[in-house]
Amino acid sequence: MAETETLSLIAQSAKVSPPDAYVRTSYIRSWDAYQAKYEQSISHPEAFWREIADELRWQQREEAVIQGQMPDFAFFPGSRINVCENCVDRHAENPATTNKVALFFESEHGDARAVTYGQLHRDVQKFANVLQDLGLQQGDVVSVYMQNLIETYVVLLACLRLGIVYNTVFAGFSPEALRERIVSSNAKAVICSNGSYRRGNILRLKETVDRALEGVDGVHHVIVYRRIPDLDTPMQEGRDLDYEALMKAANARCPAAALDCNDPGLLIFTSGTSGKPKGIIHAGGGFLLGTYAYTKYQLDLQPNDVYWNTADIGWLTSHIFVLVGGLALGATTILYEGALDHPDCGQVYRIIERYAVNKLFSAPTAYRMLVKFGEELTKQFDLSSLQLLASVGEPLNPEAWHWIRRVVGKDRIVINNTWGQTETGGTPLASLPGAVDMKPGSCGVPFFGHQLEVTDVEGRPVPDGTPGYLVIRNVFPTLARDVYGDRARYLSSYFSQIPGAYFTGDSAVRDEDGHFWVLGRVDDVVNVSGHRISTMEMESSLIQHPAVVEAAVVGHPDEIKGTVPIAFVTLEASYQAGDELAEELRKKVESDIGSFARPGAVYFVESMPKTRSGKIIRRMLREILREGKVQGDTTGLEDNDILDRLIQELGAFGSRDEKNM
Ligand code: PRX
Repeated sequence: MAETETLSLIAQSAKVSPPDAYVRTSYIRSWDAYQAKYEQSISHPEAFWREIADELRWQQREEAVIQGQMPDFAFFPGSRINVCENCVDRHAENPATTNKVALFFESEHGDARAVTYGQLHRDVQKFANVLQDLGLQQGDVVSVYMQNLIETYVVLLACLRLGIVYNTVFAGFSPEALRERIVSSNAKAVICSNGSYRRGNILRLKETVDRALEGVDGVHHVIVYRRIPDLDTPMQEGRDLDYEALMKAANARCPAAALDCNDPGLLIFTSGTSGKPKGIIHAGGGFLLGTYAYTKYQLDLQPNDVYWNTADIGWLTSHIFVLVGGLALGATTILYEGALDHPDCGQVYRIIERYAVNKLFSAPTAYRMLVKFGEELTKQFDLSSLQLLASVGEPLNPEAWHWIRRVVGKDRIVINNTWGQTETGGTPLASLPGAVDMKPGSCGVPFFGHQLEVTDVEGRPVPDGTPGYLVIRNVFPTLARDVYGDRARYLSSYFSQIPGAYFTGDSAVRDEDGHFWVLGRVDDVVNVSGHRISTMEMESSLIQHPAVVEAAVVGHPDEIKGTVPIAFVTLEASYQAGDELAEELRKKVESDIGSFARPGAVYFVESMPKTRSGKIIRRMLREILREGKVQGDTTGLEDNDILDRLIQELGAFGSRDEKNM
């Protein structure tokens, strides 16, 4: 959404109250109750986090709750806690929950399975022994290249049990992107599945791993789970090991390590404003504390809920709301492998009906896909179990919001549009679904213990209704603790812009009711279907092509994906602009980064709009695409005629991608 659009939305926004039936079962049941608890949590954050900590199992608990302040802080320093023990053992050891289903697995391919907390407990301990027997230890990093599978959860929980830092890499990433993540995290082992079903095709993940590991020395073990048993899977003698064979031989008892609450637990790469992805480090215990609290209060997750979170394990959303938050609450969650529109458009509704899902968590891009499929389709399914639809990752536009509430939710469900980042390890903004009125398009209110502000460039709060930088003033347990191997980048990316605050990189507005509206990034990051891509990363891929002299990538609004990346390139004199070259460039970006980064259009231009110091002004390219002209200040341009030329050229030399627009 453009800023002006959002501001007019805020002015007209109507509140929608949660239905009474929902309010009755939720943890926080009124605006006054939210406000009282929120104010208390800001004036006494230690008391709030102690209350959360009391609901978890500790191996050793010290007095101290919060030590230091950003960027050097700790939660429960010296206290010892194990994430896996809280997510699995607690429920497996309780006779009332040991036989409860922890995870239902469903695939687009048609197969389905389930695992109880008791079974998960046994498998996780076995796999922890497998890791230990290979010599892996607390603090070592392993890369996990798997789709949503029960085995993926076993692997990750086993790492958390031992303090082995896992890095999940989205299975859509290319061999080059995977290699970069393996190398820059110093991974000692890779754990993968041999293949994944995706829209009727098989993605050969093990082959991608083999290509990623060409020339890489540090990886001594590759553990392969044969998800597709009859898929031909070459195994390298001495390096590659079969998951099932290892599990068969493994001992079923492995105690949970006593880890400091601030020890690193997971590492997840995300795009920043430079070409190189950042390895964000989260503390294991801190992540547990925070995600338990977000999942409990923002999803209102209750023991009898059937909850489906469609996020892929390659993205942090699954770790926040399923792997750690969901399992710590003892939830029953559905894991789904494949595309949400395969074998046909009814797949999402079919699964909701089959399991009587009452809480669904997905991405705005998926909700917009449902809108596109239309109302008739919804009539073929029983969706009456639904109570809550949540989303994260990009703006949920009011049109989609109203449509899903009316058509899918028959006007009686709660919609919770949450805002979070890989770095915040959770969702500092969201609704509390039984307590806060919904405003279509807004991201709700600050979570307990989180002090969010909208400020000017000097960090002074701006009045309500005025756009500014979204910042967080205080520490919370899921805030990123470091960028792997690059403390200086951690400090400069997040703590150097606004004095005394964590800088989110987003702009936002707070309205007079205290609801926040996130307007978008203020840096060079685009968000395609919820995948965060650095425009620099795409530009450096394009520039490596011999034809390309300069490249600039900007985001452009798209009905389904939210945003698509659009590339502008200038060419080396001996190359010809045309569809063939455009396709070559698209393919290059796909193979360097992943298919989700494929440019929606490639424009061949004579030159770029630049400042006198030679920086490409991407804002102007964005505006020309959207409005056909540039508004605002153009005085900084080195060449005053460039804009007119560009506007003309855009029509003449563009190559649009039918697949991706
Ligand atoms: O720009 C914001 C956008 O997504 C960014 C974070 O992306 P990522 O780290 O991939 O998210 C992981 C989610 C746990 C933010 O800086 N964003 C996220 N949620 C929303 C959003 N933009 C608008 N509305 C949202 N609800």
